[in-house]
Amino acid sequence: MDRIAITGGAQLNGTIPVSGAKNSAIKLMAASLLTDEPLRLTNMPRLADTRFLGKLLTRLGVQVTESDGPDGQQTILHAPEITSGFAPYDLVRQMRASFNVLGPLVARSGQAKVSLPGGCTIGARPVDLHLQALEALGAKIDLHEGYVYAQAPRGLKGAEISFPIVSVGATEHAMLAAVLADGVTVIHNAACEPELADLQDCLNAMGAKVEGAGTPTITITGVARLQGATHAVIPDRIEMGTYAVAAAMAGGEVRLTNARPGLIDALLDKLKEAGAGVEPTADGVIIRRNGHRLESVDVETAPFPGFATDLQAQFMALMTTANGESRIRETIFENRFMHAPELMRLGADISVAGGEARVRGVERLEGAEVMATDLRASVSLVIAGLVARGETTVSRIYHLDRGFERLEEKLGACGAQVRRLKGDGEAEL
Ligand code: UD1
Repeated sequence: MDRIAITGGAQLNGTIPVSGAKNSAIKLMAASLLTDEPLRLTNMPRLADTRFLGKLLTRLGVQVTESDGPDGQQTILHAPEITSGFAPYDLVRQMRASFNVLGPLVARSGQAKVSLPGGCTIGARPVDLHLQALEALGAKIDLHEGYVYAQAPRGLKGAEISFPIVSVGATEHAMLAAVLADGVTVIHNAACEPELADLQDCLNAMGAKVEGAGTPTITITGVARLQGATHAVIPDRIEMGTYAVAAAMAGGEVRLTNARPGLIDALLDKLKEAGAGVEPTADGVIIRRNGHRLESVDVETAPFPGFATDLQAQFMALMTTANGESRIRETIFENRFMHAPELMRLGADISVAGGEARVRGVERLEGAEVMATDLRASVSLVIAGLVARGETTVSRIYHLDRGFERLEEKLGACGAQVRRLKGDGEAEL
């Protein structure tokens, strides 16, 4: 299995273009199931997760074509007809968000059999809210042997859906199913993450009638059919935030482009509070740190526009060498501190109790062998490796490949000493 090796100590100086958002792209790809016309997605990231979903969609009858189009990386998805309504465990297990094909399949063809995704390293992550939403829309749901059987032979019906807690995935799923339902659907306590507004824009370009995404109330007036469209995926706010933290950690000056700083205000505020230079630009942000040590600051994760849980691990890495003690509270997922013991292998001083980690900044980290435990945790180890003395090797980087496009190349272009070690440990640049 591949590993990443980082030799610490180099500052970062240069420009990093931000890719299209993974978390948006995979929901937009699922939207292709809703129409028999081609959906062209531009600004598409090329990631393991988009490949997994492409594989599943192909199995369901979608022709998936990746190419370099006039406006960069694009994927054209075309489902003239749904040839199968079956999403097997093996494909859904590899990427939980594959579960979101359930709603569009039922909406378009009246039935589906989709594997339950199972838990993951950052918690149980149930799908009860997804199923409640589909049931509210009139789907008959049965669970047998790890599979969800959903049926709505006469189509879905608009409904009032009130989520007891905010869920990004369930809100997206409800939206994807309701666009073809008969009548009006109102989603209350909807997630407000920017990926929801992106999904709304794409669906509306396809002829849907969705309003309110980005607020807690989304209204969807069902239409009989959707058409093809072209849609540009929004910039990846988590990738942008990750490189912002990397620049603050390593020092130097990094310009992030093809991005929207407004998507990570909560993080940028914390970086400023810690003492990093933050300068928004027309298409991104410049992050600077010249020599001085950062100060510890506290963070608490929250739904958007709060501090993103997907940036918590990276921020913890940053705090390991800051001056003072930082308290980091995780409120979205249980068990999302798996990176803490790995950071401690690099010399970090962290104690975890319940949903809170206390990070006491140390003067320096030391390179070591560490293991990636989930997508965002893996990149926090790379960030720590940027300043650790000597070499840090991160194993199990398939987690990293799920969500970060050309990471070694992007960091390397700014001067970081990062290389991929192929399988048996032999270096390949
Ligand atoms: C999405 C993102 C993930 C991000 C998370 C929170 C994708 C592919 N993933 O995940 O990167 O960390 O939002 O911003 O977009 N829950 C239930 N029942 C459900 C659904 C969720 O109890 O049916 C709980 C979860 O266990 C969790 C909380 O709700 O504690 C929030 O999860 P949710 O917003 O659904 O996250 P995802 O959509 O899975």
